[in-house]
Amino acid sequence: MNRSYEELRTACLSCQNCPLAATRHHVVFGVGNPQADVMFIGEGPGENEDLQGEPFVGRGGQLLDRFLAAVDLDRSRNIYIGNMVKCRPPKNRDPEPAEVEQCIGYLQEQIRLIQPKIIVCLGRIAACYMLDKNFKVTKQHGQWIQKDGIWMMGTFHPAALLRNPNNKPLAFEDMLGLRNKILEVCPDTYAGIELLGLPQMP
Ligand code: URA
Repeated sequence: MNRSYEELRTACLSCQNCPLAATRHHVVFGVGNPQADVMFIGEGPGENEDLQGEPFVGRGGQLLDRFLAAVDLDRSRNIYIGNMVKCRPPKNRDPEPAEVEQCIGYLQEQIRLIQPKIIVCLGRIAACYMLDKNFKVTKQHGQWIQKDGIWMMGTFHPAALLRNPNNKPLAFEDMLGLRNKILEVCPDTYAGIELLGLPQMP
C-alpha cells in the first residue's frame, strides 16, 4: 500500500483490527519528526501513554527524554518514536501474538515511510522482533548491526532502568555510541545544534 504518513496515521487512529481497540482510550501512533533519520521503537503503550495518546510519557518516558537530551536528541525535533503495538493491553499485560500480528503492519509501514538510517530498539521485546529473536539486552545492548541498509541497536527499556538504576551507566554508553553512529551515518540530525564537548550522564 502506498499511503502517505498522514493517511497511515488516520487509518491507524480508527483501527478495530484486534480486541485492544475496545479497551483503549487513545491509539498511540507515534511521535516526532517523520522526516527524521533516527527512529526509536518501544513495545507498546502503558497507562499514561493510553491516556495521552503519545509514546513514553510516564516516568520512563521522562528518563528517556533526559538521556535523549544528553546526546542532543529531542522527540519534537530530530527523532521519531514508535511502538510495536499501538494500543495498551489491559493491566499492562504482554500483547498476545495475534495482537502483535494485527498491529505490526503499521510499524512496518511507518518504517517504510520514514526511511530511518538508524533504529534503536528500546527493550528486549522490540529488539527480539527487529534484531534477533534471542536478543539478550544485558549481553547485546549497544551492539550495532546493519539490516536492510539500516543501522540497528538494542538498549535497555527506560522502565527497566527505573527498576534497576545500576544499568543507567551502561544505557548511557549506548547513547554515546548512538551519538557517534549519528555523526558517522546521518550528521544532519544535528544540523543547527551546537554540540558541546562530551555529554554527561543525566
Ligand atoms: N513502554 C513502551 O514500550 N512504549 C511506550 O510508549 C511506553 C512504555
